[in-house]
Amino acid sequence: MTRPEPLPGPTGPPPVVVLGMDAAGRPLPPPALAALAGAGLIVGAARHLAAVPVPAGVDTVTLGALAPAVARLAAAHAAGVPAVVLASGDPGLFGVVRRLRAAALPVRVLPAVSSVAAAFARAGLDWDGAVVVTAHGRELGPALNACRALPAVAVLTAPDAGAAEIGAGLAGWSRRLLVAEHLGTPAERVTRVTPEQAAGRRWADPHVLLSLAGAADDAGATPAGPGGAAGSGGGVGPVRRDNQPAAAPAAGWALPESAYRHRDSMITKAEVRALAVARLRPRLGRLVWDVGAGSGSVGIECALLGAAVIAVEKDPAAPVADNAARHGVDVRVVTGDAPAVLAGLPDPDAVFVGGGGTDVLTAVADRSPDRVVVTLAALDRVAPAVHLLRAAGYTVTGSQLAAARLADLPGGSVRLAATNPVVVLTGERP
Ligand SMILES: C[S@@+](CC[C@H](N)C(=O)[O-])C[C@H]1O[C@@H](n2cnc3c(N)ncnc32)[C@H](O)[C@@H]1O
Repeated sequence: MTRPEPLPGPTGPPPVVVLGMDAAGRPLPPPALAALAGAGLIVGAARHLAAVPVPAGVDTVTLGALAPAVARLAAAHAAGVPAVVLASGDPGLFGVVRRLRAAALPVRVLPAVSSVAAAFARAGLDWDGAVVVTAHGRELGPALNACRALPAVAVLTAPDAGAAEIGAGLAGWSRRLLVAEHLGTPAERVTRVTPEQAAGRRWADPHVLLSLAGAADDAGATPAGPGGAAGSGGGVGPVRRDNQPAAAPAAGWALPESAYRHRDSMITKAEVRALAVARLRPRLGRLVWDVGAGSGSVGIECALLGAAVIAVEKDPAAPVADNAARHGVDVRVVTGDAPAVLAGLPDPDAVFVGGGGTDVLTAVADRSPDRVVVTLAALDRVAPAVHLLRAAGYTVTGSQLAAARLADLPGGSVRLAATNPVVVLTGERP
């Protein structure tokens, strides 16, 4: 653990006051008004500057780009000029505090109600355990995959990375969305929509999005909290309620085959699954395809470790959804024949190919996931698979696994019982 820096003392230039603008619409409290009244420099977005009393003659910087504003703040601080930064909600939550600290500026933070807290309050939901992600200034993919994986996610958005784009990416997942625009202002608007409806509309900046598990036709009903009781017509469905995929799953992984409903040959054995899941690098923010899912055990264990998962299986009677529900994870099941059915799916970060021929592997490699893991029982398929992956730019490693399991003998002795050998190939891109 790193040693915390000492808090700023009473001597020296005053710290930069970072003042949160309340997303619940409460007026500025007296300490905030006092900081503004005594400021020599006030920095903030135009909408924030317009919403506070700026004393006559005080220098202001309208954001925009943060770097020149931070330089102005540093100069003001060095000169002993009291400075105030206006920011939204809690400035310590994906906000300006990090940038000011990175510039070695001491800060005094006066937080207000965050847009995330206000949105959950507007929805009338608890948010114990909900995950907060941001698409602000980052790639959309990890935030979108968190919404695909988890039952309660709040997304801080940016223009072109907001409710419309996330709604489009959630097509095929059972989700209801709450979009909260301009919270805490006269222009506030809170709308409950399906992903499809969100994708078809334009949304104002700023807005925050809540993505909640549940059937799309529950969009108008009171949804359940991530850890709480369902409201009328709501319910988060059969998904992991602790919403904490960054932690190792309580029951572990590489679970025995008895943890899944399966037909005997249609499950990846625990020893092989341990290696396959490790090689796929499942975690929050990634999307994994489990192609030829069978029982779904590989995809389900990826979901237990936080990944969004699509299980592709041609047999409509395969027990993937049932197994996912048993393990409390949300796996999207796509029933159909690979490779044809893969064409309509969102691009994966990693793919497990437990079933299908060379044509499936070709289609998978064409989508350029960073990892491909293949299990093969038939030896004649190993060399073509290696060559195919290498030709597609993957570095390929492989091993043959042949577990011999303890089995009881009469009289209290034990023997070894062989399981069928399998070759596990991993293709990875740098
Ligand atoms: C850089 S983040 C800052 C979040 C902020 N620290 C908070 O606690 O609300 C900016 C994003 O917060 C969300 N946001 C901030 N203020 C908002 C408001 N009044 N209404 C809706 N969303 C808001 C939007 O998603 C916006 O793009």
